[in-house]
Amino acid sequence: MTVPVIAIDGPSGSGKGAVASAVAARLGFHLLDSGALYRILGVAAHRTGLDFSDSGALSELAANLEIEFGRTGPDSVHLAGEDISTEIRTDLGSRLASEVGAIPAARQALHERQLAFRQPPGLVADGRDMGTVVFPDALLKIFLTASVEERAQRRYKQLIAKGIDAILPDLLRDLNERDARDSQRSVSPLKPAADAIVLDTTELPLPAVIEKVMDLVHERLPGTPS
Ligand code: C5P
Repeated sequence: MTVPVIAIDGPSGSGKGAVASAVAARLGFHLLDSGALYRILGVAAHRTGLDFSDSGALSELAANLEIEFGRTGPDSVHLAGEDISTEIRTDLGSRLASEVGAIPAARQALHERQLAFRQPPGLVADGRDMGTVVFPDALLKIFLTASVEERAQRRYKQLIAKGIDAILPDLLRDLNERDARDSQRSVSPLKPAADAIVLDTTELPLPAVIEKVMDLVHERLPGTPS
């Protein structure tokens, strides 16, 4: 039997990370945070001073990254034994991820790594192209959206809650730039798969989005845990 995949795609701040991890935990499925892979590659390339236009070096680096998820907690990420969980989530980490994400050789090199996450009993995969490119045969494809203003507000609240200074208009500008780069790139642009269910979360609180996705999972996979 093929291992079921639930693909959750959408722009930054749409809530897909939180929805994907809650749904994976409730189903007892594995979780792929594909954005983290792009962030790790971006940070690793930046650290080694690699020229982003050198596709050969970038794919070699991507193929050889020693990544470990979850060693010290659900969100922890280690690169060759070093904890880089915080570093990959900085604004620089976001920008570097979006830059490497626009390079076809980098996407190609990360493709196999993403497929390897598909293990029984199932996988919840979160990203930009999970339903369109990486898992086109996913059992359920969700595309989460929210207005850019709402997404900037969410990011602002997250940063303030963590005690990090933030300026709302700057966050809004960064999100607009990242959205434009992610949707306009020629490889795997951010867009819903033809068979994706689009959920606008602008006015929908997180628990309601999670319940909605769980209902859709149960329709397609009767008998899975609730
Ligand atoms: O999801 P997250 O915000 O962590 O992703 C960071 C960046 O990585 C995105 O802005 C996007 O450019 C890139 N990305 C991608 N394809 C994915 C996941 C993330 O291009 N499947």
